[in-house]
Amino acid sequence: MSAQYPALRLRRTRASAWSRRMYAETVLTPADLIWPLFISEGQGIEEPIASLPGVSRWSVDGIVARAKEARDLGIPCLALFPNTPPRLRTAEGGEALNPDNLMCRAIRALKDAVPEVGVLTDVALDPYTAHGHDGLLDESGYVLNDRTAEVLVGQALNQAAAGADIIAPSDMMDGRVGLIREALEDEGRVNVQIMAYSAKYASGFYGPFRDAVGSRGLLKGDKKTYQMDSANAEEALREVALDLAEGADSVMVKPGLPYLDIIMRVKSEFQVPVFAYQVSGEYAMIEAAVAAGAAERDAVVLETLMAFKRAGCSGVLTYHAAHAARLLNA
Ligand code: PBG
Repeated sequence: MSAQYPALRLRRTRASAWSRRMYAETVLTPADLIWPLFISEGQGIEEPIASLPGVSRWSVDGIVARAKEARDLGIPCLALFPNTPPRLRTAEGGEALNPDNLMCRAIRALKDAVPEVGVLTDVALDPYTAHGHDGLLDESGYVLNDRTAEVLVGQALNQAAAGADIIAPSDMMDGRVGLIREALEDEGRVNVQIMAYSAKYASGFYGPFRDAVGSRGLLKGDKKTYQMDSANAEEALREVALDLAEGADSVMVKPGLPYLDIIMRVKSEFQVPVFAYQVSGEYAMIEAAVAAGAAERDAVVLETLMAFKRAGCSGVLTYHAAHAARLLNA
């Protein structure tokens, strides 16, 4: 039962800032943000990424500095991606298993210097393969599922041994969450979380990321035999159900805004923690709109992040994390 106009005036509660604050149904705080960072070799290095204006790759010392910034801003967690030197990229991506690879050195430095900030690490072979795919190829160029999954288990254990708090498989191989969970249990790493990139779509929005990790020029073909078709929603629910059954602590939908419907359906179907990845192309689109004078950065950054919370997300991976946290703390 509801009153009618003029007894009912929905503008009444919007008439002042204090009231709008009081009636807000959704809140966005720095604790909702995960900050993705790109790592490069060297010392004292900052390399701007042309297709991601405002985002740089940092050498490990710079990553540690960003972690201190995150801590001071109230951002709980970082997501790490290495730009592996080309000479270490091979068909099999074996560098992913090296306990002294760039990723592991960054994890150790972070856990040493800023242990109170969470470290999420991506599990997939694309930063390590010479062909830019997330797994091992057969002679025809098809990405092999089960052999790749075995290597991913090794990669996950390698990251966990270095101190990763959250293992985030982004490869979309079938069965890998269960295998990783079992291996972590066997090694006694019972509190290492798994955030599964469950509904990851073969997307046109990943281009700047591939520049950042140096795989764009290498990638042969596309990733449609393992990442999802943008036409599909029921399949996303099946992916999520499988990953949860295999022991994922949380699930992710990626990209973000073009898939808000998926986020909402996952949340209402499963009532589990859901995260969104507002990916590199989404970030670049906002920055391009700002540069063109078509949008005001602060407003659209906060509005898009709020959309994820409203749709049911527990948090969002976003390259705007530090900027958004500064706005939220102001
Ligand atoms: C690697 C990976 C990708 C992203 C996160 N992990 C790229 C891809 O699948 O090609 C994309 C993130 C972004 O665009 O910001 N498996």
